[in-house]
Amino acid sequence: MITKYSNQKEEIKKQELEEAAEEIKKGNLVIFPTETVYGIGANALDKNAVKKIFKAKGRAQDNPLIVHVANIDMVKTIVENIGTLEQKLIEKFWPGPLTIIMKRKDNKIIPNIVTANLDTVGIRMPSNLIAKELIEKAGVPIAAPSANVSGKPSGTNIEDIKEEFEGKVSYIVDGGSTDIGLESTVIKVENDKIDILRPGKITKEQLEEVTKQVEVNKHVLEKVKKEEVVASPGMKYRHYAPNTNCMMIYSKDEEKMIEKMNEIIKELEQTGKQVLVLARGEHLSNIVTKRKWNMGNHLGEIAKNIFTLLRKVDKENVDLVLIEGVGEEELGLAITNRLIRACAYRYLKL
Ligand code: TXA
Ligand code: MG
Repeated sequence: MITKYSNQKEEIKKQELEEAAEEIKKGNLVIFPTETVYGIGANALDKNAVKKIFKAKGRAQDNPLIVHVANIDMVKTIVENIGTLEQKLIEKFWPGPLTIIMKRKDNKIIPNIVTANLDTVGIRMPSNLIAKELIEKAGVPIAAPSANVSGKPSGTNIEDIKEEFEGKVSYIVDGGSTDIGLESTVIKVENDKIDILRPGKITKEQLEEVTKQVEVNKHVLEKVKKEEVVASPGMKYRHYAPNTNCMMIYSKDEEKMIEKMNEIIKELEQTGKQVLVLARGEHLSNIVTKRKWNMGNHLGEIAKNIFTLLRKVDKENVDLVLIEGVGEEELGLAITNRLIRACAYRYLKL
């Protein structure tokens, strides 16, 4: 397959978005930027088009996709009813990085393959203007998971996207690097309570401004045990993981945390092992090894950089990637949720 691209040097033109929308209408795959990460999209109403997404990603059939809409009318064609609390959340956070799981309409306008046969559907209205215009021009909701081969970190910059999907999709819309860098917050409202299934840029603290009844699902930070029932199928799968072993360390006491990191490095290096450290910029000079990468100086920067960094670590050929944790407050919860999976739950909290 030949992949067409939008013009990479100039701003994306109307005509190019029309070409991309045309591919969606024809039942083909288009990769497009959103404010969170790139999405690999298809017409959400066309089951054969959606099938291609699962194939291109190597995604498990029981893992449902998020449906992206450009306006509320589209939502109304898909869901049974928008509840009072959901309405408030929509008013406050849409368009933006919040996915709301809602009850699907009985007419099944959204095919079963999108929702993995569940009676619910995850919907979000992206704020990224390219994404918004693409959906509008296509005239249909777009089903789109993150653009990455299943198990790997989500694509957040055009170079990674090209490397992974050249020749596998019909069109790639180049939006440079995505603003946020982590996928949307996924929530479900039940009995006037919000359950956070996947943390993201819209934080627990922000959701609490709408209702005090906000819970973080236990599988956000805990590994799913065999036979355990999950609220979101995505929780069961391996995610964001490099092939190299990774480990995360965190303490509120930064000195103690750095001391522990240095102790681990020393121990490994004494036995001839190689370590790569990912840490906050301000801590790099206190870390006693030569291979160290700057994750960023604050949570927003770390969120934006982390998937790009994780995608690069395998090229370093080290024995261990030691990652500085960021805690669980505000955007820290979303970053920790991704890193804990990248580390296959090797998370040392002091
Ligand atoms: O920011 C984002 O959300 C990006 C961009 C492209 O919009 N998309 C994204 O999609 O991250 P994906 O497929 O990589 O992650 C969607 C997550 C999965 O963990 C899936 O299991 C969950 O949402 N999900 C989707 N529909 C669901 C449903 N009906 N019930 C429970 N979980 C659902
Ligand atoms: Mg994903």
